Amino acid sequence: MADLSSIEKKALEEISKASSREVLETLRIKYLGRKGELTLVLRSLKDLSAEEKKTLGSKSNTLKEKLQVAIDQRFLEFGEDKSLGVDITRPGHKIERGHVHPLTLVERDVRRIFTSLNFSVVEGPELENEFYNFDALNLPEWHPARESWDTFWIKPEKGDKERLLLRTHTSPVQVRYMETHKPPFQIIVPGRVFRYEATDATHGDNFYQFEGLMVGKNVSLANFKYIITKFFEEFFKGQDIEFRFRPSYFPFVEPGVEVDVRFKGGDWLEMLGAGMVHPNVFAAARYNPREYQGLAFGVGTDRLAMIKYKIPDVRMLYSGDLRLIKQF
Ligand code: FA5
Repeated sequence: MADLSSIEKKALEEISKASSREVLETLRIKYLGRKGELTLVLRSLKDLSAEEKKTLGSKSNTLKEKLQVAIDQRFLEFGEDKSLGVDITRPGHKIERGHVHPLTLVERDVRRIFTSLNFSVVEGPELENEFYNFDALNLPEWHPARESWDTFWIKPEKGDKERLLLRTHTSPVQVRYMETHKPPFQIIVPGRVFRYEATDATHGDNFYQFEGLMVGKNVSLANFKYIITKFFEEFFKGQDIEFRFRPSYFPFVEPGVEVDVRFKGGDWLEMLGAGMVHPNVFAAARYNPREYQGLAFGVGTDRLAMIKYKIPDVRMLYSGDLRLIKQF
């Protein structure tokens, strides 16, 4: 049987005399390391009788703790706290700081500018039903324009009454909001949208938009021009930006327009669709179309970021590459 008391005496004496951290570490290995003297005693227990195992095992463990404490204390004297498992004298790791994503920066600007124009900020669900995404927006099932907003449909469960999809635009929030609010009001709706389409430099299958909706008496397209001009002036402040309005078609507005933006002399990039709310959309929200007028617009948040920060490909915004994100 190993002589525990002689191991104890020898070890404690050597530990108390240790003159440096290195010597102490050698002693730790000598007694408590994988092949250390005390470890070998503990390992040999398996060959002993149950009775011996019990007494020797408990004595060895007590000694192990005692030596560990003695070693830790001496390490502390050398300014090293081994008991924490941490060497507090080692230089630390550099902590990498994250960075706000350009899309978040843009959305913050959008919220700030529109609230200063007296708009409220409203949000809606990303998982939408067919009614709000299409039918209520004057896009019945047979409408050919549904093709341009193909999306990801959710597999229906037995007994489902409505078909669910990932919203293709923020426009469904128009009727959702009108159903529960009385004009006059003006809101913006920032959020994520999805489309089942091939991606390229200006098209993602997952991107961000924000909707604008202003309803009241005597609302006109002139109000829209004023609002969007104010927004661009503030959002692109100090940048040499031009924009143009052109007629367009969306089933949920009449008349419809689109707005393109470019750096002076550069290529035009389509930025938003807009128009006067279609009477059928008011009807879906149970408003009297003769009583109110509304203007609506849907802006591509990613495209705002592309122009403002000169990002040539929308897919870069989703690459997770910190070298891109950290520039802004
Ligand atoms: C719409 O989504 C309409 N809901 C906009 C609207 C709202 C019109 C209210 C009238 C009234 P459109 O599909 O054109 O329209 O998209 C609007 C804007 O989102 C585009 O001008 C563009 O800036 C951006 N956008 C569209 N598709 C993509 C895409 N795949 N990737 C990135 N941005 C896109």
